[in-house]
Amino acid sequence: MNKNPVRQFNFRRPGIVASAVVMIAVVFAFSSCPAHTPAAGIFVYNESDPFMHEFAEQIVRQAKGRFATTLYYANNSQLIQNEQIEAERAKKSDILLVNPVDRLGAFAIIRKMKAENVPVIFFNREPLAADLALWDRTFYVGARPEQSGQLQAHMVIDLFGGNPDAPNEYDRNGDGVIQAILFKGEQGHQDAETRTTEVLRSFEKTGWKVELLGMEIANWNRDEAYSKAGSLLAAWKPALELVLSNNDDMALGVISRMRQEGWFKDSNGNGRIDQKDASWIPVVGIDGIADARESIAEGYLYGTVTNNSLQMAASIVELTEMLLGERSGQELSVPLTDGKYIWVDYQPYISR
Ligand code: GAL
Repeated sequence: MNKNPVRQFNFRRPGIVASAVVMIAVVFAFSSCPAHTPAAGIFVYNESDPFMHEFAEQIVRQAKGRFATTLYYANNSQLIQNEQIEAERAKKSDILLVNPVDRLGAFAIIRKMKAENVPVIFFNREPLAADLALWDRTFYVGARPEQSGQLQAHMVIDLFGGNPDAPNEYDRNGDGVIQAILFKGEQGHQDAETRTTEVLRSFEKTGWKVELLGMEIANWNRDEAYSKAGSLLAAWKPALELVLSNNDDMALGVISRMRQEGWFKDSNGNGRIDQKDASWIPVVGIDGIADARESIAEGYLYGTVTNNSLQMAASIVELTEMLLGERSGQELSVPLTDGKYIWVDYQPYISR
């Protein structure tokens, strides 16, 4: 289609000039009508979660110039999130992008949006499959938690030398068993539950003996992990050989506590924490947030598993465009699985 119809007119004949004037007026009249800019409401469970904060900012950044966005944080309350959804719907948004506070809260959201014919993309906190099945215009973008647990275990296995029958010097007491503590995220969250079982199962399946000395639930949160680490560290200080954490933020809280308790000394004064130092033991997280990458570069955190929010945000934006009729299902950079899910792979990340 020619985008500039004015250029087609022949101005030499008066009749044509008159109709050209009319058409120019029509073109002007149309162009002065504001075109409808598609709009999406983005609803995130909690602003003080650094991974979700980075994730939400990615969505907003990548949506720029493609559709309008309004970002809401629910302060960890499903009630507040429901009110925010109501407020956004009053503004007639075209689509909802929802990180539910309570994954079971998805049911009511889907029923309501189905009645209003507003599609919903859930992300990071996975609704029940039965709820997603209620309507074909609901989707989920996330990562498979079992993969993160497996990658976390394999990162530790590599560090301990790869042979379960002869672990290397990181088995500090040489007993052939890795003495560990574990920090778990939010109870009932698919990532916390599956990462915990899968990391331990992966050791077991590969013949590694891991003795779990203790476990604390710290709800993904750095301060909570910091305070709950106190008694575990005091109880197990001489024996401890590994700290597993369901996410980076909790791992960083534990590291702060460990530093106070005498771990992670720069004994050779080279300005970096050395893995060979007697005060160093591996702490591993999941997410790859900016603070974690910095801690890895400084030598504290051993490694993390990148929870690829950059790609997940890209997939959410592409899926939104598909639902707005601006992109086909064949043009998604990560294809749909079962017509409902976009699964983005985790990647291991350690210091080089
Ligand atoms: C997980 C992430 C956690 C936390 C949680 C929130 O995927 O690893 O750090 O952000 O999502 O639902």
